Amino acid sequence: MAMNEYEIKKLMCDIGKRVYDRGMVAANDGNFSVKLNDNEFLCTPTGVSKGFMTPEYICKVDAKGNVLQANGNFRPSSEIKMHMRVYEKRPDVGAVVHAHPSFATSFAIAGIPLTQPIMPEAVIALGCVPIAEYGTPSTNEIPDRLEKYLPYYDAVLLESHGALTWSTDLLAAYLKMESVEFYAELLYKAKMLGGPKEFDKEQIEKLYEIRRKMGLPGKHPANLCKEINGEGKGCHACKGSCSCGSSSDVDLEKVVAEVTKKILAQMK
Ligand code: 13P
Repeated sequence: MAMNEYEIKKLMCDIGKRVYDRGMVAANDGNFSVKLNDNEFLCTPTGVSKGFMTPEYICKVDAKGNVLQANGNFRPSSEIKMHMRVYEKRPDVGAVVHAHPSFATSFAIAGIPLTQPIMPEAVIALGCVPIAEYGTPSTNEIPDRLEKYLPYYDAVLLESHGALTWSTDLLAAYLKMESVEFYAELLYKAKMLGGPKEFDKEQIEKLYEIRRKMGLPGKHPANLCKEINGEGKGCHACKGSCSCGSSSDVDLEKVVAEVTKKILAQMK
């Protein structure tokens, strides 16, 4: 059953407590948002611990991030531009979660994307997790650098900063953050033990096929690589270079669209 606005605000507080209690954020860090409709979005307020919120803390903004509702001194998250860019580019997304979980953030700080195929759940849920190049928090730098990954993934690391996940609803976006962190933790620990044993192409393709059969929503290399690189070529299969999600593919699409438009205009 669909939740009303108050219930969604309460869920945002519950998720805030969970994120805080699990150590996925420190102090006042992290933020999340939920889409109510095309012009109304709920978001956490800036500068408060997301572990101690009550529903009246939650702010409401429009599609441009302008404040529609904010009680007392509460103001929308300083990262609202990053959230709004996800909604703008991905109309299928209903919620966005930003946190600084320690293992995933350590990979983001070391500049190492999560691309090694090491356990079935991570391959099925995430495929691989690229790193969006560093941008100054609260500016348009983060959304601008994030943009090229948005059509292809549902989770990214933010270089030298943290992690960002999105999905159909808040619980799903939060659970994706848990999956990213668990994957990063296992990868880190396996590296400490001498390096993980990776799945081969065939094993990866079988896991991708399971994901396709499950009909899970969202974007994932299992679907992406089939579209762009041909059957059976996943990001993992191409050794995690994730080049199929790189800007060159996106730019090429833009160039083709632009040239087609010009040719059609000349033919009129
Ligand atoms: P806000 O409190 O403004 O949402 O910022 C927290 C944060 O983690 C910024 O990256």
